[in-house]
Amino acid sequence: MILYFSATGNTEFIAKKLAAKSGDGCIDLLPRIKNKNYKPIVSKTPFVICTPVYICEMPRFLSDYLKNVPLKGCRDVYFIFTSGGYAGISGNLAASLMRKKKMNYMGHAEFKMPRNYVASDMYPELDKEEILRRIEQSEKQTNKVAFQIKNRMKLRSRYVFLFEKLVTLPFNPLWVKFRQPSKDFYATDKCIGCGKCVRNCPLNNITLKNGRPLWKNPCAHCMACIGNCPVEAIEYGKITQNKNKYNIGKYLKRREE
Ligand SMILES: Cc1cc2nc3c(=O)[nH]c(=O)nc-3n(C[C@H](O)[C@H](O)[C@H](O)COP(=O)(O)O)c2cc1C
Repeated sequence: MILYFSATGNTEFIAKKLAAKSGDGCIDLLPRIKNKNYKPIVSKTPFVICTPVYICEMPRFLSDYLKNVPLKGCRDVYFIFTSGGYAGISGNLAASLMRKKKMNYMGHAEFKMPRNYVASDMYPELDKEEILRRIEQSEKQTNKVAFQIKNRMKLRSRYVFLFEKLVTLPFNPLWVKFRQPSKDFYATDKCIGCGKCVRNCPLNNITLKNGRPLWKNPCAHCMACIGNCPVEAIEYGKITQNKNKYNIGKYLKRREE
Protein backbone atom coordinates (compact mmCIF):
# COMPACT_ATOMS: atom_id res chain seq x y z
CA MET A 1 0.00 0.00 0.00
CA ILE A 2 1.34 3.38 -1.00
CA LEU A 3 0.79 6.20 1.50
CA TYR A 4 1.69 9.78 0.68
CA PHE A 5 1.64 13.36 1.84
CA SER A 6 2.15 16.05 -0.78
CA ALA A 7 1.79 19.84 -0.46
CA THR A 8 2.41 20.94 -4.04
CA GLY A 9 1.99 17.72 -6.00
CA ASN A 10 5.54 16.38 -6.52
CA THR A 11 5.19 13.52 -4.07
CA GLU A 12 1.64 12.76 -5.19
CA PHE A 13 2.89 12.50 -8.77
CA ILE A 14 5.59 9.98 -7.82
CA ALA A 15 3.28 8.03 -5.47
CA LYS A 16 0.62 7.65 -8.17
CA LYS A 17 3.18 6.59 -10.79
CA LEU A 18 4.52 3.94 -8.40
CA ALA A 19 0.98 2.77 -7.63
CA ALA A 20 0.11 2.48 -11.32
CA LYS A 21 3.35 0.62 -12.13
CA SER A 22 3.19 -1.78 -9.19
CA GLY A 23 -0.59 -2.28 -9.28
CA ASP A 24 -0.84 -1.27 -5.62
CA GLY A 25 -3.38 0.97 -3.84
CA CYS A 26 -2.64 4.55 -2.90
CA ILE A 27 -3.80 6.59 0.14
CA ASP A 28 -3.51 10.37 0.51
CA LEU A 29 -2.67 10.95 4.19
CA LEU A 30 -3.78 14.61 4.21
CA PRO A 31 -7.38 13.99 5.40
CA ARG A 32 -6.13 11.53 8.03
CA ILE A 33 -3.52 14.01 9.31
CA LYS A 34 -6.03 16.89 9.35
CA ASN A 35 -8.71 14.87 11.16
CA LYS A 36 -6.25 13.16 13.53
CA ASN A 37 -7.61 9.88 12.22
CA TYR A 38 -5.46 7.13 13.73
CA LYS A 39 -7.51 4.16 12.53
CA PRO A 40 -5.07 1.36 11.60
CA ILE A 41 -3.93 1.12 7.99
CA VAL A 42 -3.88 -2.48 6.81
CA SER A 43 -1.87 -3.77 3.85
CA LYS A 44 -0.96 -7.20 2.49
CA THR A 45 1.75 -5.65 0.31
CA PRO A 46 4.72 -3.62 1.65
CA PHE A 47 4.00 -0.13 2.93
CA VAL A 48 5.54 2.50 0.67
CA ILE A 49 5.59 5.87 2.43
CA CYS A 50 6.11 8.82 0.09
CA THR A 51 7.02 12.22 1.51
CA PRO A 52 8.65 15.52 0.63
CA VAL A 53 11.85 16.52 2.45
CA TYR A 54 11.68 19.55 4.76
CA ILE A 55 15.11 20.69 5.95
CA CYS A 56 16.79 17.32 5.59
CA GLU A 57 13.96 15.14 6.98
CA MET A 58 10.34 14.25 6.44
CA PRO A 59 7.87 16.88 7.74
CA ARG A 60 7.52 16.73 11.53
CA PHE A 61 3.71 16.53 11.33
CA LEU A 62 4.08 13.43 9.13
CA SER A 63 6.60 11.67 11.39
CA ASP A 64 4.33 12.48 14.37
CA TYR A 65 1.39 10.98 12.48
CA LEU A 66 3.34 7.85 11.52
CA LYS A 67 4.49 7.37 15.12
CA ASN A 68 0.87 7.11 16.19
CA VAL A 69 -0.95 5.31 13.39
CA PRO A 70 -0.89 1.48 13.57
CA LEU A 71 0.42 -0.13 10.36
CA LYS A 72 -0.99 -3.66 10.19
CA GLY A 73 -0.45 -6.67 7.95
CA CYS A 74 2.80 -6.65 5.98
CA ARG A 75 5.86 -5.68 8.11
CA ASP A 76 8.01 -4.44 5.20
CA VAL A 77 8.22 -0.70 4.66
CA TYR A 78 9.89 1.44 2.00
CA PHE A 79 10.33 5.22 1.97
CA ILE A 80 10.25 7.50 -1.06
CA PHE A 81 11.60 11.03 -0.64
CA THR A 82 11.06 13.84 -3.09
CA SER A 83 13.32 16.85 -2.61
CA GLY A 84 14.99 19.68 -4.45
CA GLY A 85 18.19 17.61 -4.48
CA TYR A 86 19.30 17.06 -0.89
CA ALA A 87 17.43 14.65 1.39
CA GLY A 88 20.06 14.75 4.18
CA ILE A 89 19.31 12.35 7.01
CA SER A 90 15.70 11.68 5.99
CA GLY A 91 16.39 7.98 5.37
CA ASN A 92 18.23 7.44 8.66
CA LEU A 93 15.45 9.06 10.67
CA ALA A 94 12.74 7.14 8.78
CA ALA A 95 14.59 3.85 9.39
CA SER A 96 14.88 4.58 13.09
CA LEU A 97 11.18 5.54 13.35
CA MET A 98 10.09 2.37 11.56
CA ARG A 99 12.31 0.11 13.67
CA LYS A 100 10.61 1.52 16.78
CA LYS A 101 7.32 0.41 15.19
CA LYS A 102 8.78 -3.07 14.69
CA MET A 103 8.67 -2.65 10.91
CA ASN A 104 11.25 -4.13 8.56
CA TYR A 105 12.93 -1.14 6.83
CA MET A 106 13.56 -2.05 3.17
CA GLY A 107 15.41 1.16 2.26
CA HIS A 108 14.48 4.35 0.48
CA ALA A 109 14.72 6.10 -2.86
CA GLU A 110 15.33 9.78 -3.45
CA PHE A 111 13.72 11.69 -6.32
CA LYS A 112 15.17 15.04 -7.33
CA MET A 113 12.12 17.14 -8.14
CA PRO A 114 11.50 20.87 -8.66
CA ARG A 115 11.96 22.89 -5.47
CA ASN A 116 8.65 24.21 -4.17
CA TYR A 117 9.95 26.46 -1.37
CA VAL A 118 9.28 30.02 -2.47
CA ALA A 119 9.20 31.78 0.92
CA SER A 120 12.92 32.50 0.95
CA ASP A 121 15.37 34.20 -1.38
CA MET A 122 18.07 31.67 -0.53
CA TYR A 123 17.09 29.30 -3.34
CA PRO A 124 17.21 30.62 -6.92
CA GLU A 125 14.15 29.90 -9.05
CA LEU A 126 14.52 27.08 -11.56
CA ASP A 127 13.67 27.78 -15.17
CA LYS A 128 10.83 25.99 -16.92
CA GLU A 129 13.15 23.64 -18.86
CA GLU A 130 14.91 22.48 -15.69
CA ILE A 131 11.57 21.91 -13.93
CA LEU A 132 10.28 19.80 -16.82
CA ARG A 133 13.59 17.92 -17.02
CA ARG A 134 13.45 16.97 -13.33
CA ILE A 135 9.84 15.79 -13.64
CA GLU A 136 10.71 13.68 -16.67
CA GLN A 137 13.84 12.16 -15.09
CA SER A 138 11.92 11.29 -11.93
CA GLU A 139 9.09 9.76 -13.90
CA LYS A 140 11.63 7.47 -15.61
CA GLN A 141 13.14 6.57 -12.22
CA THR A 142 9.74 5.28 -11.04
CA ASN A 143 10.08 2.31 -13.47
CA LYS A 144 13.11 0.95 -11.66
CA VAL A 145 11.85 1.70 -8.16
CA ALA A 146 8.39 0.17 -8.82
CA PHE A 147 10.11 -2.97 -10.15
CA GLN A 148 12.34 -3.20 -7.06
CA ILE A 149 9.43 -2.75 -4.67
CA LYS A 150 7.22 -5.22 -6.53
CA ASN A 151 9.99 -7.80 -6.27
CA ARG A 152 10.64 -7.02 -2.59
CA MET A 153 14.21 -5.97 -3.30
CA LYS A 154 16.05 -3.74 -0.81
CA LEU A 155 16.55 -0.17 -2.05
CA ARG A 156 20.12 1.05 -1.95
CA SER A 157 20.72 4.75 -1.34
CA ARG A 158 23.54 7.18 -0.82
CA TYR A 159 25.62 6.49 2.31
CA VAL A 160 25.34 9.29 4.87
CA PHE A 161 28.60 9.76 6.79
CA LEU A 162 28.63 10.35 10.55
CA PHE A 163 30.03 13.86 10.04
CA GLU A 164 27.15 14.73 7.71
CA LYS A 165 24.64 13.32 10.21
CA LEU A 166 26.10 15.42 13.03
CA VAL A 167 26.09 18.57 10.93
CA THR A 168 22.55 18.18 9.56
CA LEU A 169 20.84 16.82 12.71
CA PRO A 170 20.26 20.28 14.31
CA PHE A 171 19.04 21.94 11.06
CA ASN A 172 15.42 20.84 11.30
CA PRO A 173 14.86 21.54 15.01
CA LEU A 174 16.39 25.01 14.58
CA TRP A 175 14.25 25.63 11.52
CA VAL A 176 11.08 24.54 13.33
CA LYS A 177 11.92 26.85 16.23
CA PHE A 178 12.99 29.99 14.40
CA ARG A 179 12.19 29.95 10.69
CA GLN A 180 8.51 29.23 10.27
CA PRO A 181 6.55 32.36 11.14
CA SER A 182 3.15 32.49 9.47
CA LYS A 183 2.61 36.20 10.12
CA ASP A 184 4.04 37.13 6.71
CA PHE A 185 1.40 35.17 4.76
CA TYR A 186 -1.46 37.28 3.42
CA ALA A 187 -4.09 37.20 0.70
CA THR A 188 -4.29 40.01 -1.84
CA ASP A 189 -7.46 41.49 -3.38
CA LYS A 190 -7.36 38.69 -5.96
CA CYS A 191 -8.64 36.29 -3.23
CA ILE A 192 -12.04 34.80 -4.05
CA GLY A 193 -12.56 33.22 -0.62
CA CYS A 194 -12.79 29.68 -2.05
CA GLY A 195 -11.21 28.10 1.04
CA LYS A 196 -8.84 25.83 -0.87
CA CYS A 197 -5.96 27.01 1.36
CA VAL A 198 -8.01 26.06 4.44
CA ARG A 199 -8.68 22.57 3.05
CA ASN A 200 -5.06 22.01 2.00
CA CYS A 201 -3.39 23.05 5.27
CA PRO A 202 -2.16 19.87 7.01
CA LEU A 203 -2.00 21.65 10.38
CA ASN A 204 -5.51 23.22 10.19
CA ASN A 205 -3.83 26.58 10.71
CA ILE A 206 -5.83 28.63 8.24
CA THR A 207 -9.32 29.95 8.85
CA LEU A 208 -11.50 32.22 6.72
CA LYS A 209 -12.53 35.53 8.27
CA ASN A 210 -14.86 37.72 6.19
CA GLY A 211 -14.04 35.51 3.21
CA ARG A 212 -10.26 35.96 3.58
CA PRO A 213 -7.69 33.48 4.95
CA LEU A 214 -6.00 34.12 8.29
CA TRP A 215 -2.85 32.20 9.29
CA LYS A 216 -2.15 30.98 12.82
CA ASN A 217 0.89 29.19 14.24
CA PRO A 218 2.61 26.77 14.15
CA CYS A 219 2.96 26.71 10.38
CA ALA A 220 5.10 24.09 8.62
CA HIS A 221 5.78 26.37 5.61
CA CYS A 222 4.74 23.43 3.42
CA MET A 223 3.66 25.80 0.61
CA ALA A 224 0.31 24.04 0.09
CA CYS A 225 -1.62 27.31 0.53
CA ILE A 226 0.54 29.57 -1.62
CA GLY A 227 1.32 26.93 -4.24
CA ASN A 228 -2.23 25.76 -4.91
CA CYS A 229 -4.22 29.01 -4.74
CA PRO A 230 -6.32 28.96 -7.94
CA VAL A 231 -5.98 32.74 -8.43
CA GLU A 232 -2.43 33.15 -7.03
CA ALA A 233 -3.72 35.52 -4.36
CA ILE A 234 -1.38 34.40 -1.57
CA GLU A 235 1.95 36.08 -0.88
CA TYR A 236 4.66 35.76 1.76
CA GLY A 237 5.86 39.26 2.66
CA LYS A 238 7.62 40.85 -0.29
CA ILE A 239 9.63 37.71 -1.05
CA THR A 240 7.05 36.00 -3.27
CA GLN A 241 5.55 39.00 -5.03
CA ASN A 242 7.33 38.48 -8.32
CA LYS A 243 7.90 34.77 -7.99
CA ASN A 244 6.30 31.82 -9.68
CA LYS A 245 4.29 29.94 -7.05
CA TYR A 246 5.08 26.30 -7.68
CA ASN A 247 2.71 23.41 -8.02
CA ILE A 248 3.35 20.47 -10.32
CA GLY A 249 -0.07 20.70 -11.97
CA LYS A 250 0.93 23.82 -13.93
CA TYR A 251 3.85 21.96 -15.49
CA LEU A 252 2.02 18.73 -16.20
CA LYS A 253 -0.55 20.80 -18.10
CA ARG A 254 2.21 22.54 -20.10
CA ARG A 255 3.77 19.17 -20.89
CA GLU A 256 0.51 17.98 -22.43
CA GLU A 257 0.11 21.12 -24.56
C1 LIG B 1 9.68 23.76 4.29
C2 LIG B 1 10.43 23.12 3.14
C3 LIG B 1 11.72 22.66 3.33
C4 LIG B 1 12.42 22.04 2.29
N1 LIG B 1 13.67 21.54 2.54
C5 LIG B 1 14.34 20.91 1.57
C6 LIG B 1 15.61 20.32 1.83
O1 LIG B 1 16.13 20.30 2.95
N2 LIG B 1 16.27 19.75 0.79
C7 LIG B 1 15.75 19.72 -0.48
O2 LIG B 1 16.39 19.22 -1.38
N3 LIG B 1 14.51 20.22 -0.75
C8 LIG B 1 13.79 20.81 0.25
N4 LIG B 1 12.54 21.31 0.00
C9 LIG B 1 11.93 21.11 -1.35
C10 LIG B 1 10.90 19.98 -1.34
O3 LIG B 1 11.36 18.87 -0.60
C11 LIG B 1 10.54 19.47 -2.76
O4 LIG B 1 10.23 20.50 -3.62
C12 LIG B 1 9.41 18.43 -2.69
O5 LIG B 1 9.44 17.67 -3.87
C13 LIG B 1 8.03 19.03 -2.53
O6 LIG B 1 7.08 17.99 -2.51
P1 LIG B 1 5.50 18.19 -2.65
O7 LIG B 1 5.26 18.92 -3.96
O8 LIG B 1 4.96 16.82 -2.69
O9 LIG B 1 5.03 18.97 -1.47
C14 LIG B 1 11.82 21.92 1.01
C15 LIG B 1 10.52 22.40 0.82
C16 LIG B 1 9.83 22.98 1.87
C17 LIG B 1 8.41 23.44 1.64
